[in-house]
Amino acid sequence: MSAVLTELPIVQAPMAGGPSTPELAAAVSNAGGLGFLAAGYRTTEAMRADIAATRELTSRPFGMNVFMPSLDAIDPAAVAAYRDLLAPEAARLGVEPGTPGARDDAYDAKIADLVSDPPAVVSFTFGCPSPDVIRALKDRGATVVLTVTSVDEARRASGADALCLQGFEAGGHRGSFTNTLDDPLALRALLPAVREITRQPLIAAGGLATAADVAGILSLGAVAAQLGTAFLRCPESGASDVHKAALTDPRYTSTAMTRAFSGRPARGLVNRFLAEHSGDAPAAYPDVHYVTAPLRRASAAQGDPDGVNLWAGESFRETTETPAADLVTALASA
Ligand SMILES: Cc1cc2nc3c(=O)[nH]c(=O)nc-3n(C[C@H](O)[C@H](O)[C@H](O)COP(=O)(O)O)c2cc1C
Repeated sequence: MSAVLTELPIVQAPMAGGPSTPELAAAVSNAGGLGFLAAGYRTTEAMRADIAATRELTSRPFGMNVFMPSLDAIDPAAVAAYRDLLAPEAARLGVEPGTPGARDDAYDAKIADLVSDPPAVVSFTFGCPSPDVIRALKDRGATVVLTVTSVDEARRASGADALCLQGFEAGGHRGSFTNTLDDPLALRALLPAVREITRQPLIAAGGLATAADVAGILSLGAVAAQLGTAFLRCPESGASDVHKAALTDPRYTSTAMTRAFSGRPARGLVNRFLAEHSGDAPAAYPDVHYVTAPLRRASAAQGDPDGVNLWAGESFRETTETPAADLVTALASA
């Protein structure tokens, strides 16, 4: 896929929550890679504004990533219990835990908007859109990419132009179809296993940080490498200063998968909140995301990384402040 759309086999991962700015996506696309915007947690209007802003900065292809609506069978009592557990911590921060809101991330409105005028690529995470949605986007000329984390999901992901394989090492949310941690395969195991069951182009994501990593994964049959964490500290990234600084803070020595912040497995730096609450958080996405949001905001405002979701993949130590265009060139240089 990438070979057709872009000069270089480098995809900048969509990163919701701030990092994926129009400046970052455009810099990557202008350098010959594929830049990505992220619709997650944004309004439809903000998503459209990001597309317009990126089109001002590049005439090259770029992508938009969409969250599938949550299918979690949520236990309100478990969410309420987690909310109560966090109340003293919230009080210390001068806020109250949040209350759960919409679970669909405005999916229908975002799809209607994207179908009316899509960017070159539209990718999905947390599930597989209906054949109608895939067809409508393709009819408007968009390339459709589905994120999968297992062989079983790859088998169920039909109708797309390419699959994005996300290994267990990846930073941020695991893009699995359901809120489970089944089949936690590392990328180098997942790629050959999926290759056996499909001929679709495969974009590989998870723990990739260097030109050697990229060359290695391409040699296993991926058409492109998708990197998120590696771009977090670029000057064009919209990651918060607290997040950027934490990636080089010697206090943080490892990453772990946790539901503590959002109710869905996601990989981040092991900080106090993650260590204290991973055992308590219910599998309830996005309800837990809403509950913890005021605490995370207040911690970030107070400059305290220990109360913030510091999403990062296992290769977080390799991040640099290199401008995104130079990073794309370097990653493709092996
Ligand atoms: C801060 C952050 C936010 C992310 N947000 C999204 C997102 O909105 N949509 C998505 O499909 N993947 C998201 N991801 C996962 C990436 O698409 C990708 O799988 C991951 O970054 C690859 O692993 P790496 O971080 O080790 O490079 C996010 C990753 C990070 C680090």
